[in-house]
Amino acid sequence: MTAKPTLLRDLPADLDVKRLPRHVAVIMDGNGRWAKQQGLPRIMGHRHGVDTLKELLRCCKDWGIEALTAYAFSTENWGRPLAEVEFLMTLFERVLRRELKELISEGVQIHFVGDLGSLPESLQEEIERAMSATRHNQTIRFTVATNYGGRREILQACRAIAEQVEKGQLQVVDIDEALFERHLYTAGTCDPDLLIRTSGEMRVSNFLLWQVAYSEIYVTETLWPNFDRQEFHRALSDYQQRHRRFGLV
Ligand code: FPP
Repeated sequence: MTAKPTLLRDLPADLDVKRLPRHVAVIMDGNGRWAKQQGLPRIMGHRHGVDTLKELLRCCKDWGIEALTAYAFSTENWGRPLAEVEFLMTLFERVLRRELKELISEGVQIHFVGDLGSLPESLQEEIERAMSATRHNQTIRFTVATNYGGRREILQACRAIAEQVEKGQLQVVDIDEALFERHLYTAGTCDPDLLIRTSGEMRVSNFLLWQVAYSEIYVTETLWPNFDRQEFHRALSDYQQRHRRFGLV
């Protein structure tokens, strides 16, 4: 896990610095509805969604949160109209190219998780470049789930473990939670403490199925492009009211 910055910028006075989540995960929902409300094509919602994500990343960094994971594209999203899928792929690539310099200078370590091998090759190259250029950064770990599916992640971990058993490299009795976690895309990152979903839907939608076992879930009616610092502050205040029991009394 990455080191915390020593100086927190603009942390709202009512938030307890000792009880901030270490890892925040977000399901960025409502881009299409936001665009419709504005009388704009759906893709404009995604474009504004990028600005929102950038601002959230900056906010997490300022407030000393160690990790942010965002659900950018699910394994199910391929079923959207082709033009929207193509727009999103181009958008990811363009944003990565445009923002890489700043990500480096801000100390962001960027990761992509998901079935990355099925993404367009030019995007895969950009992802590789960004991950490699930021791998020693320490300020915040920013993970983008792209062509990600929680069930697929669990299946690929099972296959990898089964292969080791088949080859005699591993005994069935040695399979425990820690070993299993090492085979997930998110190996090396702590589980999210807080999962935020925008636009009111009460679903996990195949996101981080294993990792959210004990996450606190915060759902807001706010559409993703409108999820600003104040909204995030509200989510954190709500989180700090929770009593996390992890199955205990
Ligand atoms: C869900 O809204 C949003 C998406 C499927 C795409 C989210 C992607 C981004 C914000 C871009 C992130 C970019 C990088 C490089 C990390 P929706 O389209 O499902 O909205 P709706 O439910 O209102 O239709």
